[in-house]
Amino acid sequence: MNKILVTGGTGYIGSHTVVELQQKGYDVIIVDNLSNSQIEVLDNITAITGIKPQFEQFDLTDAPKTADFFFRHNDIKAIIHFAAFKAVGESVDKPLMYYRNNLVSLMNILQGMSYNNIPNIVFSSSCTVYGQPEQLPVSENSPILPAMSPYGNTKQIAEEIIRDTLNSTKLNATLLRYFNPIGAHESALIGELPLGVPNNLMPFITQTAIGIRQQLKVFGGDYPTRDGTAIRDYIHVVDLAKAHVVAVDRMLNKKSKKNLEIFNLGTGNGYSVLEVINSFEKTTGQKLNYIVVERRPGDITEIWADTEFANNELGWKAEQGVDEMTLSAWKWELALEARKRS
Ligand code: UFG
Repeated sequence: MNKILVTGGTGYIGSHTVVELQQKGYDVIIVDNLSNSQIEVLDNITAITGIKPQFEQFDLTDAPKTADFFFRHNDIKAIIHFAAFKAVGESVDKPLMYYRNNLVSLMNILQGMSYNNIPNIVFSSSCTVYGQPEQLPVSENSPILPAMSPYGNTKQIAEEIIRDTLNSTKLNATLLRYFNPIGAHESALIGELPLGVPNNLMPFITQTAIGIRQQLKVFGGDYPTRDGTAIRDYIHVVDLAKAHVVAVDRMLNKKSKKNLEIFNLGTGNGYSVLEVINSFEKTTGQKLNYIVVERRPGDITEIWADTEFANNELGWKAEQGVDEMTLSAWKWELALEARKRS
């Protein structure tokens, strides 16, 4: 069995990817410092797949510990690197914390790969690298615009660090640029677990509907869009997770055409904030308490993916629609609530 390292494997996208990898027969080892996730996620992964992933808890910014890890696990065939800080607003307040965490960990990993001849890395990038694109949909060749936040800048710089490292090593990389992942596994055993007040739309919707939050604020009703609210390409987290398995298969089977490949991971469909709310209300029967307020600083008007390259070249396509996304997010919120009560 091919051994795959998943950093950040107890996190939101990481945990869903571990499940898909295990179900495809991969031997998964997780490294996570649990700074934004819980150890119980391991049990929930095991409950879904019947296989407990190996797990080591340490911080990948710790160079000696990371070097020691790779020395002990030099049979790893590919790395999927999720572990990173990801809150846009927090990154504005604590830029050095973001640069140190997101970039030092990446450099330690690339060093470990290079020393131990671990050839393949799949990196979590973001559509944030495109800023507000002039042309929609955005393809992988669309221009990279100046980042709107230190968080976004860490993704751009990380892409450059990987590109430069590939020029002087034998490593291969796949950069996956995610659009907006939402939803949860159909088992409702894993999902998004935001600490404190959620920044993102979907957890704020479900927490409002269940009564943890009083009211959802819709940021901006005066965008030049069909209903005045901002548009994003929401993608089911399970579809996103499956794309990682396809990317790993492609690298291990030496199907990559270049040592650096880049794919957009979206559905190709844009939904406005109000359309997501409508979908949620329709699929769950819940009435959402919301109010339209001022725009949130730093938000772009609209973005959605050109999925042609990922569909044709990677051979992957997002399958689930927005209704499946909002319903699965609600089932996850209900399961969390039931667990709290028991
Ligand atoms: N929104 C609201 N109310 C909320 C939260 C969000 O109206 O309480 C709106 C936002 O204004 C935006 C849309 O819902 O129009 C989606 O917002 P999210 O915060 O869920 O997602 P973003 O598109 O802002 O952020 C995503 C990722 C980031 C990434 C960023 C790049 O979560 O990691 O895209 O733009 F950096």
